[in-house]
Amino acid sequence: MKAIVFDRYGPPEVLRYTDVPTPEPRDNEVRIRVHAASVIQADCEFRAFRFPWWFWVPLRLYSGLIHPKRIRILGQDVAGTIDAVGDNVTRFQVGDTVFGATEIGLGAHAEFKCLRESAPLTRKPNGVSFEQAATLPTGGLNALHFIRKAAIQPGERVLINGGGGNIGSFAIPLARHFGAEVTAVDHTSKLETLRSLGAETVIDYTREDFTKHGPHYDVIIDVIGKAPYGASVHALNPDGRLLIVNPRFSSMLRAPCTSIRTKKQVSCSFANYTSEDLDYLAQLVAQDVFSPLIDQTFDLADGAQAHRLVESGTHHGNVVFRIVADDVP
Ligand SMILES: NC(=O)c1ccc[n+]([C@@H]2O[C@H](COP(=O)([O-])OP(=O)(O)OC[C@H]3O[C@@H](n4cnc5c(N)ncnc54)[C@H](OP(=O)(O)O)[C@@H]3O)[C@@H](O)[C@H]2O)c1
Repeated sequence: MKAIVFDRYGPPEVLRYTDVPTPEPRDNEVRIRVHAASVIQADCEFRAFRFPWWFWVPLRLYSGLIHPKRIRILGQDVAGTIDAVGDNVTRFQVGDTVFGATEIGLGAHAEFKCLRESAPLTRKPNGVSFEQAATLPTGGLNALHFIRKAAIQPGERVLINGGGGNIGSFAIPLARHFGAEVTAVDHTSKLETLRSLGAETVIDYTREDFTKHGPHYDVIIDVIGKAPYGASVHALNPDGRLLIVNPRFSSMLRAPCTSIRTKKQVSCSFANYTSEDLDYLAQLVAQDVFSPLIDQTFDLADGAQAHRLVESGTHHGNVVFRIVADDVP
């Protein structure tokens, strides 16, 4: 099969579009013929191995200390058709159209991907395209996790910092769906996009610092994790909640202290990916509650180009590889 492989950590140029053996499903696995797979910031961070030290060490030991060994194909979100199943598989059968998360094994940037049937994997509803489905696992599940954790009440003021990228483009419509009044922050070039996603108020981070508004927000979801910790806490109403998607180590240390000393809550947590939440998100898309924002679609052979776009941060919403052209409704 064709896949994008990387043999060393580094810039997008380390990616090679090449032939690798097609994987065979184990007894508890299904094999997916991949139709679409997302390209996200976390893929670029993995390729370049750009992680904070506390994450760098365990992840590097896992993936390969000098060169990538265990993980040589990137890709965290997959959508496609099941073309083979292991002997013990009961949840799925050949021909099912599915989408899901590849978890720690990654490997979606290929023509075929094997996943445990117990992985966060579910059937794709009619009316949701493979490209749309491929955006939902990482972006959608992380956004849903932090929105739920914020326990948003109708009418609350919610600010989403970094609203124009992968996770933010789901967080805005989901926060609106839960009844919030949404302010979104991103680069000048994305302000119209933020409005189209449902933000009532938009802030250009190159011109304005949202933390200078004083106590104002009930919830702040800092997707990009770049807002200063103390100023973000200050920008919350007395019983406000700050949720940091991409936290610094110092923020993780300070979060429990803030939560103990004040009525404000600060949370730095990781989403638990489930098939049920994937179903929930796909139903919202099928019912037109929101539509995943896809900026560009690339062929698998153009892997480096796709990585360059995502790494530049200039993409609006999601970037997707279209691997099999014959889309099934
Ligand atoms: N905690 C977790 O479980 C978890 C899970 C998944 C991902 N993550 C991490 O979360 C981060 C964000 O992920 P993503 O996929 O949403 O990234 P993304 O698609 O690159 O989106 C980030 C957005 O933030 C904007 N941005 C950059 N600097 C900003 C600033 N100072 N203020 C406001 N906005 C700014 C970017 O625009 P410009 O670059 O054009 O300015 C971009 O629109 C990544 O580092 C990812 O690895 C964490």
